[in-house]
Amino acid sequence: MTAHLVMIRGDGIGPEVCGAAADVLLAVCEAAGVDLHVEEGLMGGRAIDETGTPLPDDTRDRCLRADAVLFGALGGPKWDHLRGEQRCEQGLLRLRKAMDAFANVRPVRVHARLAGRSPLRRDVVEGTDLVIVRELTGGAYFGQPRERTGSGPEETARDSTVYTAREVERVARVAFELARARRRKLTSVDKANVLVSSQLWRDTVERVAAEYPDVELQHELVDSFAMHLVQQPRAYDVVVTENLFGDILSDEAGVLSASLGLLPSASLSEGSRGLYEPIHGSAPDIAGRGIANPYGAILSAALLLRHSLQRDDLALAIEAAVDDCITEDLLTPDLGGTLTTAEVSTHVRREATRRAASPALEPAP
Ligand code: NAD
Ligand code: IPM
Ligand code: MN
Repeated sequence: MTAHLVMIRGDGIGPEVCGAAADVLLAVCEAAGVDLHVEEGLMGGRAIDETGTPLPDDTRDRCLRADAVLFGALGGPKWDHLRGEQRCEQGLLRLRKAMDAFANVRPVRVHARLAGRSPLRRDVVEGTDLVIVRELTGGAYFGQPRERTGSGPEETARDSTVYTAREVERVARVAFELARARRRKLTSVDKANVLVSSQLWRDTVERVAAEYPDVELQHELVDSFAMHLVQQPRAYDVVVTENLFGDILSDEAGVLSASLGLLPSASLSEGSRGLYEPIHGSAPDIAGRGIANPYGAILSAALLLRHSLQRDDLALAIEAAVDDCITEDLLTPDLGGTLTTAEVSTHVRREATRRAASPALEPAP
């Protein structure tokens, strides 16, 4: 089997965690006889410095031809003065849009060994196993009009939260399918008591629900959901929500797991192509020190194997290796450990490769 991957390291800790994830991914593929071709792409601050734009056409075109894209993180203080379409973050948004990566799947599992490390009580977070499905190519991130006009006290800025029924329907289907393969419980989060975009969202999700009578659907308003998420996270299985709410709620969910650095994501389109990235940012406060937590990036590489390369077995090998390493307290400083990014990645690579080479070692899912 041959696969083509574009790797975009990005800025800040992006290159550190992306490098760690690529090491694990390449080693596992080699052990399993998968011929993985990796090319590098530029995006974000480095792309601005080298080419003047956060997403060069060349990067976009190569990503559209690849089977999958593995991405670290972008942005940082050096580029924070930039505004509007010039910002680093626009590079990532344009790539998501170009790839039509509309369904951002963000799994949140609390490892038993780390439940005591969350600032929330162990008995609240222990056993949490949920997935946030965030709509990724609509809402306020892309809606028109989007403008800044005038000057002085009357200077006005406008973002627009825009959704079509089709956009809601397709992401709702991804969430219902996922729920069907899990505990059959779906929570749709909106602000339908105020926003008309949320009223369309709720009506559309309700309509799709008719096709999934085996999945229990409930609606929650985003403000009270934000509270429930830290009060009773075990109550949730799959959560589907619009772009901006999903961005905010998934960082909140990072607190459950004890570090933002643990959470992976897969951004999926209709086909098998996907964009895989940890949910955290470029962490300028710790960049360049070799201490970033690579687990979120490594678990993103596992999602890549599952969704884009159809190698669930290899994804499980990496996920089991990560579980084992965490159980053995192989941790970076954000989780109270003393290991470097590279040391964690070496441990995971060794364990994952062993499992990939001898599938019998995989645990039951
Ligand atoms: P951040 O996620 O970069 O960092 C928030 C906090 O979490 C920091 O204290 C950081 O040290 C810590 N953290 C994050 N990832 C970690 C890891 N792997 N290991 C250990 N600690 C980790 O958020 P921010 O500081 O608000 O944003 C910094 C920049 O990153 C901004 O320019 C922002 O736009 C960008 N950003 C990029 C992405 C992305 O590229 N996908 C995502 C979020 C933010
Ligand atoms: C994320 C990030 C991005 C987002 C930024 C960097 C554009 O915060 O992936 O969660 O807001 O989607
Ligand atoms: Mn975010």
